[in-house]
Parts: sequence; structure tokens; C-alpha cells
Amino acid sequence: MAHRLTKPLRLLLLGAPGSGKGTQTSKLLKFYPELYSLSSGDIFRQQIAAKTKLGLEASKYIENGSLVPDNIVTGLVVDHLTKEVILPDIKHWILDGFPRNIEQAKSLDTSLAHTIAGNNNKCVFNLVVELDVPQQIIIDRIVNRWVHIPSGRVYNLQYNPPKVPGKDDITGEPLSKRPDDTEEIVSKRLKDFNLLVKPLKEYYQNLGILKVVSGETSDIIFPKLLDIIKKNF
Ligand code: AP5
Ligand code: MG
Repeated sequence: MAHRLTKPLRLLLLGAPGSGKGTQTSKLLKFYPELYSLSSGDIFRQQIAAKTKLGLEASKYIENGSLVPDNIVTGLVVDHLTKEVILPDIKHWILDGFPRNIEQAKSLDTSLAHTIAGNNNKCVFNLVVELDVPQQIIIDRIVNRWVHIPSGRVYNLQYNPPKVPGKDDITGEPLSKRPDDTEEIVSKRLKDFNLLVKPLKEYYQNLGILKVVSGETSDIIFPKLLDIIKKNF
């Protein structure tokens, strides 16, 4: 069932690796077909699959669970947002995976906050939602994850398995494992996330746009997220 937003929505989904940012984005897109979504991780995986220069450079960092340097990621996301959202004047959009640290958040706002029509604060977002999921259950989830690289759709052998094993539900194309989804690398990604998230949350908290939704089982988080959006947009 499609719903309409009554005010522009510029949403950042924040959360640890495996907290479900990609999953919640897919659910929101079904609910609000007019939403546009952009995931920095998905862009990198598509560039890696296409063996572009950027993909080759990024894969050196991604495969061992390190963050790609700020200047590369920020340039990439600003470029995508400008071409795909701001110039075509898309009103409702979600970012997943960017910004990841306070430097990225400030660069994004300096580059683009003033270009958004009718935006009267200094931030490109008007809502930031943290998906707060206990980290002990995250590793299990990620180890069971399969992805469709061209679209970014994610599956889980337990939670949302594909209709045909190993194939994407929509295109029938093969699913892959991410090279950074081993237990060891996920632990490193979680550790880095924990170090970087606090200042980022404070930044958005001070702007009055941060909300946190907590939950560990499959269908707890989405209704809470939806409720926040429905009440405010
Ligand atoms: P990125 O792709 O952004 O990875 P991430 O942040 O580590 O997050 P994930 O995609 O792993 O998890 P998710 O929250 O989307 O969870 P999902 O919905 O898949 O980044 C990858 C890499 O790219 C980074 O490590 C870095 O190197 C680089 N990069 C990207 N952005 C960058 C930036 N800004 N700066 C620097 N470097 C950057 O769910 C996980 C699993 O759980 C799935 O199997 C899913 O089916 C399952 N699941 C989801 N929800 C539930 C639920 N409610 N119940 C049960 N299972 C569930
Ligand atoms: Mg993801």
C-alpha cells in the first residue's frame, strides 16, 4: 500500500553494520514509492563489481573492514546527491551509510545544506534515526546475509530468505556474499562504528533532529520508524 508524504523528508539512517539500514530502507521504499535512496556502501560495491578505478581503490579498504578515506567518500556522495537529488529537485530521500563520522557530516552540510530550497537550518537532513540493535545479535545476522549487488537488496537465510535459494527475488540474478562479512572483519567494523558514532549523534542531537529506535527482533523496528515519519511528515 503506497502512502504519501506531506512534507519533504531528508532522512539519514544511522546504525552499526548489520543494524538493518539497508533492510529498513527497502521497507520504506515499498511504503513510500516517491522516496529516493542512496547507500554509500552500495555505490562502492557496484563500482567494485564494475572494476572501475574508484572501485579498485575502495576495495583495498572495504575488504579488510576499514573506512574509505573521507575525501573519496564525501566527493562521491556530494556528486551523487547533486546530480540525482538536488538538480532534479527530488523532495524525499534517504541516505544510508553516509555520513559515518563528524568530519563527513560537516563537509556534507558545508557543501550542500544551502542548496536545498526552503531549508532553514544548516543541515541537509531534517530527520536522523539511529537503529539501535544489540551488537551480540548483529554478527549472526551478517554471517547469514546475502546481497544482490546491482540493486543493494539484502536477504538473510533466516529472517528474509530469497524465494529461490541463491537468486534475487526481482531479477532472478545470483546473490553474493560480501567479502567484509566474515566474523573477524565484522568485529572490526563494529569497533570502528562504536568509536565514531558518539560525536556524530551529538552533532545531530544538537540540531534537534536525532531519534533512536531500539529493538532486536524482525518486526519491532519498522513500525517504530514508520510512526516517527508518519507523525512528522
Ligand atoms: P556499508 O555497506 O554502509 O556497510 P555497513 O554500514 O557496515 O552496514 P551494512 O550494510 O553491513 O548493514 P545494514 O545496516 O545495511 O544491515 P542490513 O539491512 O544489510 O559499508 C560497507 C563499507 O564501505 C564500509 O565498511 C566502508 O569500508 C565503506 N564505506 C561506506 N560508507 C562509507 C563512509 N561514509 N565512509 C567511509 N567508508 C565507507 O541487515 C544485515 C542483515 O541482517 C541482513 O542479512 C538482513 O536480512 C538482516 N536483518 C536486517 N534487519 C533484521 C531484523 N529486523 N531481524 C532479523 N534480521 C534482520
Ligand atoms: Mg547496508
